[in-house]
Amino acid sequence: MEIIRTPAEMTVWANKALAAGQTIGLVPTMGFFHEGHLCLMRKAREKSERTVVSLFVNPIQFGANEDLGRYPRDFARDCQLAEGEGVDVLFAPEAQAMYPSEASTRVIVSGLTDELCGASRPGHFAGVTTVVAKLFHIIKPHCAVFGRKDFQQLAVVTRMVADLNWDVEIIGHPIVREADGLAMSSRNTYLSVLERQSALCLFRAIAHARRRVRTGFVEAKVLLQEVGELLQQEAVTIEYVSLVDQASLQPQAVLRKGAVLVMAIKIGATRLIDNDNLFEEN
Ligand code: PAJ
Repeated sequence: MEIIRTPAEMTVWANKALAAGQTIGLVPTMGFFHEGHLCLMRKAREKSERTVVSLFVNPIQFGANEDLGRYPRDFARDCQLAEGEGVDVLFAPEAQAMYPSEASTRVIVSGLTDELCGASRPGHFAGVTTVVAKLFHIIKPHCAVFGRKDFQQLAVVTRMVADLNWDVEIIGHPIVREADGLAMSSRNTYLSVLERQSALCLFRAIAHARRRVRTGFVEAKVLLQEVGELLQQEAVTIEYVSLVDQASLQPQAVLRKGAVLVMAIKIGATRLIDNDNLFEEN
C-alpha cells in the first residue's frame, strides 16, 4: 500500500491509473478505523480495480466547540488495517496542503443541510461537501462509498454530485453495528462503561420503531413520542428525533416506504447519531 501525503502526488497516481484504463474507488474517512470503515473499503474494492482511502481529519467541518483537538487518531494502526483490506493508496494529506492560507472557496448544498445535524452543527456540511469535492477532484474516482450511519451526509453528497453533474457513483453502505446493536463510530471511544450502556437506547428505539411499523402502525407523532420516552429512560440529552423521507429529508406525518427514523443524542460530552430505514430489511 502506498501512502501519499500531497494532493499533487495523489493526482499523479490517479492520472496514471486512469491512463492505464483502471477504475478508482474512493472511501473518504477521518481515520481511527473500525469495522464500519473496513466494510466500506471492501465494498470499494469490489466495485473498482484500484482503491483509495483518504484519511483526513477535516478541520473545517468541526465547530469551534467541537472535538477537533481530541478526535481519536492512530495512524500506524490505520495503515495496517487499510493494508490488510488490500487498499492501494492511503491518502493522508496535512491540513496545510488541503487548505493553503489563500483558499477561500466553499461548496454549499442548501436546503438539505438546514435541519437535523445541519441545525445543531452550523457550517458542518459546508465543510464536508467542500472536502469531498476536493477529494473527488484530486482522486477522480469512478465511485465513492459512504456509510448510511451518516444518513444526512450521504443525502447531501448525493445531492451535490447530481447538482454538479459529477460522474461519480455514490454508493451507500448499510450501518455496521456492534454485536449489541450500537452503531460503530470512532467517537464511541469517548464513552465510559456506563455511557456505553446508555448508548444502547438508540438501538432499543430502532427495534421498537421497527416492531411498530411491522404491525402496521403509521402515525409518526405517536411513534416519535414513544421513541422519545424510550431514549429518556437513560441519562441522555436528545438533540433531535425525527421521522423523515430518505431523499427529501422532510418530516413525515404518516409513515410510508422511505421513512427513516433519525436521532442525535448527547451522552455526557459525546454526541452520537443513529438512524434506520424502518421499511427496509437490514
Ligand atoms: P468518518 O466519520 O471517518 O466516516 C467515514 C465513512 O465511514 C463515512 O461514510 C461514514 O458514514 C462511514 N461510517 C462510519 N461509521 C459507520 C458504521 N458504523 N457503519 C457504516 N459506515 C460507517 O464521515 C466522515 O468521516 C467525514 O465526514 C468525511 C466524509 C470523511 C468527510 O470529512
